[in-house]
Amino acid sequence: VSTPFDRSLVPEPLLALDHEAIAAEFGTPVFVYDEHELRRRCREYAAAFDAVAYASKAFLCTAMVRLVGDEGLLLDVATGGELHVALAAGFPPARIVMHGNNKSEEELSRALDAAVGRIVIDSFDEIDRLEALAWARGTTADVLVRITPGIEAHTHEYIETGTERSKFGFTVSEGVAEAAVERVARSDRLRLRGLHCHIGSQIYVLESYARAVDVVVALIAETGVGISELNVGGGLGARYLEEDPVLDVSKYAAVVRDAVADACHERRIRAPAVMVEPGRSIAGPAAITLYRIGTVKEIPGVGTYVAVDGGMSDNPRPVLYEAGYEAFLPARVGEERDLSATVVGKHCEQGDVVVAEALLPGPVRPGELLATPCTGAYGASMASNYNKVPRPAVVFVRDGEAREVVRRETLDDLVRLDLE
Ligand code: LLP
Repeated sequence: VSTPFDRSLVPEPLLALDHEAIAAEFGTPVFVYDEHELRRRCREYAAAFDAVAYASKAFLCTAMVRLVGDEGLLLDVATGGELHVALAAGFPPARIVMHGNNKSEEELSRALDAAVGRIVIDSFDEIDRLEALAWARGTTADVLVRITPGIEAHTHEYIETGTERSKFGFTVSEGVAEAAVERVARSDRLRLRGLHCHIGSQIYVLESYARAVDVVVALIAETGVGISELNVGGGLGARYLEEDPVLDVSKYAAVVRDAVADACHERRIRAPAVMVEPGRSIAGPAAITLYRIGTVKEIPGVGTYVAVDGGMSDNPRPVLYEAGYEAFLPARVGEERDLSATVVGKHCEQGDVVVAEALLPGPVRPGELLATPCTGAYGASMASNYNKVPRPAVVFVRDGEAREVVRRETLDDLVRLDLE
């Protein structure tokens, strides 16, 4: 069957762009975000939960920190580097949530000195380290304890973090989480603000959250500690492919909030505030990547390769997780698609695939622009310089106006760290 591209995969302003003008001004590949879409998604979350921290690992730059700040969200950072970008952009430290399964002394010190609002404790070593640092400063730290609820989230195993074998958090089995919570509750340097769990990423089965909530609330009841907030992490899936479900934030919130209310009612404890940490579902669908097609190769008996001017350096997700994407030709978005092709990048690897099975209107010609939807999360943030390909620019579009918020790397940038 030959149907046109499903336009609902892309925010309308990104379809209406003058794509050639964007490419001429900023070059290709380029990440193009619809700023209204980013803000709309932040607001949708803010309205649905008691508190929302945007997970900056999904996509982070100064402009994004400011946008998230404007929208009143909190910010989740997972390393000293992410913390630095947030602080350098002027983000209020009290609204920062500091994560990481191996935070160094420097990272914890920076977090304490900046007075970040929440540090999420991930190990017994960290409890000792943070206590000692707080003691040396004559201060205290507000913390959450990260719990591993032992839940399968039905996603790719590399991004599933809630199971017993996860390197993150304290497992509920064998009383480990209980011991950690009690240890923190006894500390005179750490103030237990709440518990945290994160069961994975790109989750479509909302029920997984309800099961995780039940495990964590049971732990609160067992330990008898006072908890004012429960952070259920991020992970809501994004729609990459036509056949992927559209996930509704208010439904997700209803599932989580009902689960918290039910579990707390059952165990007769006061329900804590419910907080989430979405990354992908805010940033992902708000951007496309624009590429320029350079070569089209038909291999008899094999198929058609359409090669673009980026690839695994701007989107490693197909290589890492066999992630699927759609593709469209912005200039011919309404045309019937009769060509099945593999969109590949320009890297020296056979696995450098952008879209394994793209449906495009044929024939496709070198020089045309090609776009992939839903590349706003874990694209720019996981970009590399493999093959010394400069990383793309990031452009925000607002009311038809495009502005570069991260400049494209230059060839000179590629040698800027070399000492000889
Ligand atoms: N909170 C914590 C503690 C996390 O570890 C993560 C993601 C999030 C929140 C945000 O999850 P999200 O809402 O974005 O799913 N590179 C992978 C995804 C790794 C996710 C890591 N943690 C990918 O490209 O699919």
